[in-house]
Amino acid sequence: MNVTDVFGNLPTLETDRLRLRKISLRDARDFFEYASNPEVTRHSTWSPHESIEDTKQFINQVLNQYKAGHVAPWGIEHKADRKFIGTCGFGNWIHYHARAEIGYALARPYWSQGYMTEAVQCVIAFGFKTMKLNRIEARCRLENIGSFRVMEKAGMTFEGVLRQHMYMKGDYHDLKLYAILHADFLNQEHLIQQV
Ligand SMILES: CC(C)(COP(=O)(O)OP(=O)(O)OC[C@H]1O[C@@H](n2cnc3c(N)ncnc32)[C@H](O)[C@@H]1OP(=O)(O)O)[C@@H](O)C(=O)NCCC(=O)NCCS
Repeated sequence: MNVTDVFGNLPTLETDRLRLRKISLRDARDFFEYASNPEVTRHSTWSPHESIEDTKQFINQVLNQYKAGHVAPWGIEHKADRKFIGTCGFGNWIHYHARAEIGYALARPYWSQGYMTEAVQCVIAFGFKTMKLNRIEARCRLENIGSFRVMEKAGMTFEGVLRQHMYMKGDYHDLKLYAILHADFLNQEHLIQQV
């Protein structure tokens, strides 16, 4: 199982309320709507998109990743609202160590309703079952309560603080490190979903 086998044709994943599928240029308007909100980018490495052209440029980069069979995020579609509301996916997949990292962002009106926990649980199941990972990590700033709550609710364990781990927006930031092992996943039957 290598990167191209999995990401050469990124499969669509379904949860109760969400569809995780390839991002397309048709999502640009919905994507820009939330990616231009400074509240959404406050704890992230990226800055708010200033125009829809920024969003299209980002989407084109993702499309190139899909085409090349590289690791790339899923777009999150709200099934009932038929709206593109965020992204979730893997980065830093190191095949030899069977280890990868998860990242995500969600449109502001959809926060605190369990959506990202639902998406992350599905992506974790995909990581262990399809990508055959042994360890999945996630990191966030100490102040990003919503983000580390997602990690906790998705069954990840807090492993410590990476001091001044990231230089971002003019300063060094401490990051919380969470991870889930394949063995943990097997012990958490409630996380296992059909993927
Ligand atoms: C982080 C993020 C993805 C969370 O998504 P979400 O769908 O709101 O997450 P969930 O609803 O599944 O879970 C979040 C939990 O944190 C809680 N929470 C969120 N913000 C909080 C705050 N400021 N204080 C206390 N609790 C908070 C929510 O109430 C919920 O808790 P509960 O279910 O235990 O009641 C979303 O806030 C977001 O996109 N933020 C901007 C981008 C970002 O920071 N990405 C992560 C970078 S590391």
